[in-house]
Amino acid sequence: MAPHKLLLLPGDGIGPEVMGEVKRLIDWLNAQGIASFETETGLVGGCAYDADKVAITDATVAKAKAADAVLLGAVGGPKWDPVPFDVRPEAGLLRLRKDLELFANLRPAICYPALADSSSLKREIVEGLDIMIVRELTGGVYFGEPKEITDLGGGKKRAVDTQVYETYEIERIAAVAFDLARKRGNKVTSMEKRNVMKSGLLWNEVVTRVHAEKYKDVKLEHQLADSGGMQLVRNPKQFDVIVTDNLFGDVLSDIAAMLTGSLGMLPSASLGATDAKTGKRKALYEPVHGSAPDIAGKGLANPLAMLASFGMALRYSFDMGALADTIEKAIANVLEKGIRTGDIAAAGAKGVSTSQMGEAVLKEVQALH
Ligand code: NAI
Ligand code: MG
Repeated sequence: MAPHKLLLLPGDGIGPEVMGEVKRLIDWLNAQGIASFETETGLVGGCAYDADKVAITDATVAKAKAADAVLLGAVGGPKWDPVPFDVRPEAGLLRLRKDLELFANLRPAICYPALADSSSLKREIVEGLDIMIVRELTGGVYFGEPKEITDLGGGKKRAVDTQVYETYEIERIAAVAFDLARKRGNKVTSMEKRNVMKSGLLWNEVVTRVHAEKYKDVKLEHQLADSGGMQLVRNPKQFDVIVTDNLFGDVLSDIAAMLTGSLGMLPSASLGATDAKTGKRKALYEPVHGSAPDIAGKGLANPLAMLASFGMALRYSFDMGALADTIEKAIANVLEKGIRTGDIAAAGAKGVSTSQMGEAVLKEVQALH
């Protein structure tokens, strides 16, 4: 079989440090013949600006399009605060999302039992939690027209944002959610506000139809987004996959993330459409955290979010669910043994280094394999 092509974009700050631990794992998988990955490395963010005066070059975007998946570390840092707006580090990430048409943002909330006490909720409510929020990323109220502030005179103004969704946008995000559910717990909860929004009515109607046409084997529920938010905090384990629009998804995914504790633990994915000819789907995997300039270059970063992002790539881009399970189990075992980087260590305890954490995960993967 041809090797899977991975483009690695470590980026800035702790990005290269956490990416190094993924590279360590990939090298081992290749050496053992467990998988076959061909990796290439590129620049994005501040490091790309330093080299080429842009946040990402056309050549790197082309490589991202040609790759089977992109793994990104993090971009940004105070060093680049003075650079012009259109070439600031985040512009590289935004351009990738736009040019690869990554319309589905996947944000899992996983609560490892060993960390359940760092959640703001009670252990029994979050222990073992494993849910996935699928947020529509390229439509909705953040992009709809008209979008403006009008001066009404006499010190009064009028602001308008417009929520727009078309059938095809809802169909494709619904399909992503149902496909994911089949690889997980086989249940989708769709959230909108059909009681007060026309776009919510259409959302509900299209999700229901997509389900009836192609996904009858998956359980489908509908919840109003506000009461869905309550349920997420009251009893999050009732969910498997939640699919929702850009605005509700922005809020709900941040809430879900905090159910689990630490920022250094959270992976994410952004997916595009499946190519009808090749059957391949554009995809970018990255931790939720940023470049953490306060700890960059010190070997203190927690690589688990980056490693878990690679696990998502295995599951959702390469159909290697069993290997993804192994990596998740390895992370859980390492935590169970009390191995912690500083960000998840008990107050006052000294954590292990980035590379010690990466080595510990690799050892567990080797033991489980
Ligand atoms: P941040 O996520 O970089 O850091 C927030 C806090 O969490 C810091 O104290 C940091 O040390 C800690 N932290 C984050 N990830 C960690 C990890 N893996 N291990 C241990 N501790 C970790 O967010 P912040 O400070 O708001 O932003 C810093 C820079 O990162 C900014 O330039 C920002 O624009 C950029 N950023 C980039 C993102 C991306 O590349 N997708 C996302 C968020 C921020
Ligand atoms: Mg947000």
